Amino acid sequence: MSNAPLHKLIAQHAQTANLLGVDFVPCYRTLQAAPQPAPRAPTPIKPAVGRDRQAHQQALDAIHARYLAHKPHEAFGYSFTNIVFGEGDPAARLMFVGEAPGAEEDRTGRPFVGRAGKLLDGMLSAMGLSREHVYIANVLKIRPPNNATPTPEERNASAPYLCDQIAAVMPEVIVTLGLPATQTILRTDSPMSKLRGQWATFTHPDASKACTVPVMPTYHPAYLLRSYTPENRKLVWSDLKKVIEKLTA
Ligand code: URA
Repeated sequence: MSNAPLHKLIAQHAQTANLLGVDFVPCYRTLQAAPQPAPRAPTPIKPAVGRDRQAHQQALDAIHARYLAHKPHEAFGYSFTNIVFGEGDPAARLMFVGEAPGAEEDRTGRPFVGRAGKLLDGMLSAMGLSREHVYIANVLKIRPPNNATPTPEERNASAPYLCDQIAAVMPEVIVTLGLPATQTILRTDSPMSKLRGQWATFTHPDASKACTVPVMPTYHPAYLLRSYTPENRKLVWSDLKKVIEKLTA
């Protein structure tokens, strides 16, 4: 039995149901409550054990320092407040990759803390996880002006750092959020309609790193916020269930 406070459990349950496409919960009194079957929770994803977190963190710190020294974003001349490098468990089994920081991320220096981030938190909670269990990074480390979709040049300038972050964390699965992240990680021009929900493989361009990771592309939470239909939510949840299956197999 979980020790989480009841309101947290209820909120988690509501988020899970919502991701499954449940839009409302009927509220009424029954005279004689019929016995209900216990809801089936997904098999819990076990945390990463036996990994040297300090070594993973040191590898990430070295990439961060290299990024700060080379400043690949300077070629594009944007003004920004904070570099958003990435955060979470440095030895996570599961890594999420988004597109680029937005206004809230630029202000705080942390990935996915705005509205899309709240939805990502809900997706994690539906998977029985929270942010400290996973590693979260973006393709671009600084906010593009007006949250514009990153250009191929911007993606190419930042991709080497992202690839090295993946090799440092060495997750068992990557979930890419949206088209720019998916195309960057998979080095493809295919559309989301072909990529979403299909297992693919990330291979680090430097073969000596021996880093090959299964990738599950899904919709970006910001897209879900714009197109919050039961169909889209069910698609995302079906993608996340495939990830749960792989990590609990
Ligand atoms: N959207 C992203 O792709 N990344 C963030 O960190 C926030 C919003």
